[in-house]
Amino acid sequence: MAVINIGILGLGTVGSGVMNIFQENRERIREYTGVDIQTKKVLVRNMSKPRDTFFENGTLTADPQEVLNDPEIDIIVELMGGIEPAFSYVLQAIENGKHIVTANKALIATHYEELFKTASQNGVEIRFEGSVGGGIPVIDTITARLAGNRIDEIVGIINGTTNYILTRMSKDGMGFEEALKLAQDKGFAEADPTSDLNGQDVSFKLAILAAISFGIGIEQKDIPYEGITKIAEDEISYAMESGYTVKLLATARKREDKLEIYVHPTLIPNHHPLAAVSNEFNALFIRGNAVGELMLYGKGAGSLPTGSAVVGDILDIVKLKRKSAKTGSRPIANKEDLRIIGEDTGSYYIRLQVIDEPGVLGAITTVLGKNGISIASVSQQALGQKDVPVIFVTHKVKREKLDKGLEELRELKDIVKEVACILRVEGY
Ligand code: HSE
Repeated sequence: MAVINIGILGLGTVGSGVMNIFQENRERIREYTGVDIQTKKVLVRNMSKPRDTFFENGTLTADPQEVLNDPEIDIIVELMGGIEPAFSYVLQAIENGKHIVTANKALIATHYEELFKTASQNGVEIRFEGSVGGGIPVIDTITARLAGNRIDEIVGIINGTTNYILTRMSKDGMGFEEALKLAQDKGFAEADPTSDLNGQDVSFKLAILAAISFGIGIEQKDIPYEGITKIAEDEISYAMESGYTVKLLATARKREDKLEIYVHPTLIPNHHPLAAVSNEFNALFIRGNAVGELMLYGKGAGSLPTGSAVVGDILDIVKLKRKSAKTGSRPIANKEDLRIIGEDTGSYYIRLQVIDEPGVLGAITTVLGKNGISIASVSQQALGQKDVPVIFVTHKVKREKLDKGLEELRELKDIVKEVACILRVEGY
């Protein structure tokens, strides 16, 4: 099997996620690309730090030149963050003919034009899916899947740390500091969380989204931004009492020949789809002139979600380089040995129409209990009619057990007039 070598710059939160994914999904990645992807060199700050991943002797190095100048490395994966020295390293790698994958929003937002100009002069690819929205494929969606659209508006929650803090403040009544500490412990926040909290991180991401959505060179410094540092309990209480949720929104909206673009904390009505985006989750609402309204939702930060975006970019470049790989094959991500089992287990809502007499509920619950169907809640919705609806919600149960129990209930013809409706209950 052919080998493609990658070099990684930086083995922090995202770098470790990438290594985990390669380890865990090695076989499916080989199957998908037809290539063995090997991590040839990894630039680290501290050579003696204990690590979860096993590396062959000589893989880890503290010298960037060993990675950038290795003639066997095809793809450089930049996961250091910050503008310098990342920018110099990436430029050097491009000039050495290496493809680039990066999750570095500050780098892309600041040097977008120059990076792509140099890449095109050197015939190499740059991918940066992990720079916005963590694991959510926002860049690929806008640049490839929506390429046939004119994009008119993008509005999003694109910082996991602030969304996590606002969620903890509203849902748990937590203080700002305590919530921030939790976000840091979970690996969502930047090393210095200032840029998460003051909205700058969002402005970098918005600059990238605007550049790819509207095809204009827009710099982060041209985007006004305000973060969440002034939000106190008062704002949270007001929002809760008035049917609103506080969210830090990134907005870019076309107004005829103008582009409104800003980052601002915002009260959004609870019925707005973005109000339901909680914890470290991100979401991006996009309006295109062909697709209409679209919303992407997922984990916007963290080791594995962002690692997932980075690995996707690496595989994209590998597939591009290996034009011979599986041309004309069906577009499936993985081939798995799966047994189709239809509906397996679930929680269920069951509405029975029953006669309203003593002992009816007892008879029904006896049948359900005998069949191993555990009841989570029960309610009778009406009184004094001939047949009344009784609604059960069950705990998780195998569908075949449920069906057997319901069959026995149908036999209690004197009391159960009808098994009227069955719904699955998700997230119960
Ligand atoms: N600090 C960022 C966040 C990480 O909280 O969303 C992903 O860019």
